[in-house]
Amino acid sequence: MDRLDSLRTRLHCVGQAHLLEGVEALPPGDVESLCRRIESIKWETLPELIDQYVKNRPAGATGEIVPASCVTVDPECVCDAVSLVDAEGLREQGETLLKEGRVAAFTVAGGQGTRLGWQGPKGTFPASPVTGKPLFRLFAEQILAAQQRWGHTIRWYIMTSEANDTQTRSFFLDNRCFGLDRRQIMMFPQGMMPAFDSASGRVLLEGPGRLAMSPDGHGGSYRALLRSGALDQMEGRGVEAISYFQVDNPLVPVLDPVFLGLHIDPDLSSGEFTSKMVPKCGPDEKVGVFALRGGVPGVVEYSDLSREQAGAVDASGRLCFAAGNVAMHIISTDFARRVAIEGEDPLPWHRADKKVTWHDPASGETHVPAEPNAVKLERFVFDAMGIAAKPAILEVCRETEFAPIKNASGVDSAGSSIQLQSDLYGGWLEQAGVSVPRRDDGHVDAAIEISPLTAMSAEMLSARGLPAGISPGSVFAC
Ligand code: UD1
Repeated sequence: MDRLDSLRTRLHCVGQAHLLEGVEALPPGDVESLCRRIESIKWETLPELIDQYVKNRPAGATGEIVPASCVTVDPECVCDAVSLVDAEGLREQGETLLKEGRVAAFTVAGGQGTRLGWQGPKGTFPASPVTGKPLFRLFAEQILAAQQRWGHTIRWYIMTSEANDTQTRSFFLDNRCFGLDRRQIMMFPQGMMPAFDSASGRVLLEGPGRLAMSPDGHGGSYRALLRSGALDQMEGRGVEAISYFQVDNPLVPVLDPVFLGLHIDPDLSSGEFTSKMVPKCGPDEKVGVFALRGGVPGVVEYSDLSREQAGAVDASGRLCFAAGNVAMHIISTDFARRVAIEGEDPLPWHRADKKVTWHDPASGETHVPAEPNAVKLERFVFDAMGIAAKPAILEVCRETEFAPIKNASGVDSAGSSIQLQSDLYGGWLEQAGVSVPRRDDGHVDAAIEISPLTAMSAEMLSARGLPAGISPGSVFAC
């Protein structure tokens, strides 16, 4: 009873006493989990958050935005906003990091994947064009290939969420970790945030004794890395650079030596936070863009860019805000630790208005809203860019690195991704002398898949054992 009384007092002080109404009627197990949940939340910090982000809409970020400067290793991509750097020098530096085991891979896989409509962790989604390998297997094969190439074990950290942690772990165990050593993989769930009633700021219950909770955004990864002991483990093993990527992109280069080399080049970057971008394919593409707001670098989400800003072009006809965020970053372990512990709130929260089914403890009724009734708060990993002394941004080629699977159909769906993967691998086969069928629109007219264990680039694909040609509409995997 003491425990409940003390929680009641705590909640009362912050205007959330309703959460324990009717608690006496709950089975003891439910009371225990409710208490544990309540104890996991920093209630003292909530009134200010509720005032700032829930009861009031945070004022949109202010300050003029200007395009961020980027670098490229491709002379054809050079323009006002993008300058040329030497690929070979960077590659050499990055390869040294890989050979010395100073890099870890990090996948953020805590999202709910609602848009895709896949029942299960997104990383279990069958993503490759021919054999339907799940996203997690594709990343694992890249790690295996990288280990063979650079001769060092590469540790893989995966951030899950409460909702998918158990399923993700079982999937890896059922698949024998895709050939990796179980000990080189560490999974940890990210933090959770309560959902708030938009009008009153009260934390919502999703059912009797159960708070409505959701993941705290990929920006929660800094704290999750720290809390889980992942950062300590990395540092204990000499890892200095974290290669961060989202679970939704089958083409992501999990470990890119040129990117790593840029990150540690003191002339080009402060070695804290380094990002990749691809030029947007048009003003309406739904990607965030790298820009400076009031002089501070960051990502401006597509929803926050006005039509004029999204469509603005420079004298050469290129989009001014062209640097699309592909969600690949290199983050130093030092920097991640600083962001995780610096002050109370080093990163801002972002508000999302959502429909959340809620239970009213006073009446015992459950309400299914027709309109958004709740506010969820998330942090974004790239907001830390503004804390880095000199973040660098590398332009890369969309065709070789970016084929995300986000939606059930249309743009950024499994269908579009499979076509993009086939186009890329078809191009590699052509470079190796294989004749590949193409439709009038230039896309490859076959499903083609090349495992990272076979080749990680066109140059690494040996012509030996390849067919002379592929028939239209057929499938080919190697
Ligand atoms: C994201 C970026 C956008 C970028 C695009 C590229 C944000 C806010 N926007 O958009 O700038 O152009 O990718 O593909 O990120 N995740 C977690 N925990 C969470 C929330 C998300 O692990 O609490 C993970 C998801 O599993 C996923 C990734 O973060 O891997 C992306 O999240 P999502 O909300 O889908 O962002 P996008 O709208 O795709």
